[in-house]
Amino acid sequence: MFESLGMAPPDPIFGLTEAFLKDTNPEKVNLSTGVYSDASGKTPVLAAVKKAEERILKKETTKSYKPIQGAPEFGEIVQELLLGSGHEVIVSQRGATAHTPGGTAAIRLVADSVKQLSPSSTIWLSHPTWANHPNIFRSAGLRVRSYSYFDKANNQLDFHKFLHALREIPAGDVVVLHGCCHNPTGLDPDREQWARIASVLTDRKILPLVDLAYQGFGEGLEEDTVGLRELCRPGCEMMICSSFSKNFGLYNERVGALTVLARSQKEAQAVLSHVKVSIRAHYSNPPAHGGTIVTTILHNTKLRSLWEGELRQMRNRINGMRTLFVESMAARGVPRDFSFVREQKGMFSLSGLSKDQVQRLRDKYSIYIVESGRINVSGMTEANMATLCDAIASVL
Ligand code: LMR
Repeated sequence: MFESLGMAPPDPIFGLTEAFLKDTNPEKVNLSTGVYSDASGKTPVLAAVKKAEERILKKETTKSYKPIQGAPEFGEIVQELLLGSGHEVIVSQRGATAHTPGGTAAIRLVADSVKQLSPSSTIWLSHPTWANHPNIFRSAGLRVRSYSYFDKANNQLDFHKFLHALREIPAGDVVVLHGCCHNPTGLDPDREQWARIASVLTDRKILPLVDLAYQGFGEGLEEDTVGLRELCRPGCEMMICSSFSKNFGLYNERVGALTVLARSQKEAQAVLSHVKVSIRAHYSNPPAHGGTIVTTILHNTKLRSLWEGELRQMRNRINGMRTLFVESMAARGVPRDFSFVREQKGMFSLSGLSKDQVQRLRDKYSIYIVESGRINVSGMTEANMATLCDAIASVL
């Protein structure tokens, strides 16, 4: 069966980190995978996480299975973080949450649900989008198309074209929206634009899937849900895939959530029952540790405030690096204005570097950037900034 099998292509994102780790150049810089690095270039375990783990270690009495959808208290805390306590969805219980191994599994579960409940629906992705989005939906056997989002010439959100594209999408299809810190462009709609998006989706009867992987990295925990909360109108149906990989630094614990919003508690529970069948087929039930860490931190006032402070620090450091990068490129007198990098939100910047320039940065300088030109800004440090900017200036 395996004899004539060739190699599959490397993953467009993780494949780069694999190559980076093998690179022996001491000056190498990894700006590929969306993992936060601190000023020393390390990906730290947050202090709030370490403290929570100490408590868990002392208190834990069993390693027995979690329920298929995860612990109920995890679901409650997820909904509170997404929508704010006292939200109509929470009070009416028309939302149901499953604890998933990362945001990726949540998206895959949505894909399976759509395939099962509405197999002829098309999935609409922003152009550009996270490189793994099409992969996940196609693996579930769904048709994928893209909608306009980005004005490449001006490095801006092309809101006019975006809204126009949404209006053309047939009823019953699914639109994937990045809740905040759009990956890869770093460009998000503002509140007023989100409200207009919400009206189009409601009028057209399109199901939104909100992918919220970077809550807290844009402007703040609550500020980053402004779009989600605009979309979340009374009676709406929605799928929300959220992740704690980035904002808790829990990448390898695989902790995320799928939250289904339906018109009533009964309908939400019906959707959840199908999601549970899918979970059972994929991974049976979620790994406990990451979810217990998140719940422990969010249930404890001191740990929560420690975590919020650490999240703020990560956000501020990235914004500091954006400014330093823009200034450093300007100081080199390059024929391109990079000031747009300062306006983008979250971990990423779509730099405008071409495929060829990205390849030369890798071959000549051991600087690793995703082929689309997406840069993980958090990989920048004061120590590697000069090397990085000299290299970019030379390939421009
Ligand atoms: C990224 O976009 O680099 C991250 O979300 C990591 C991943 O899973 O691709």
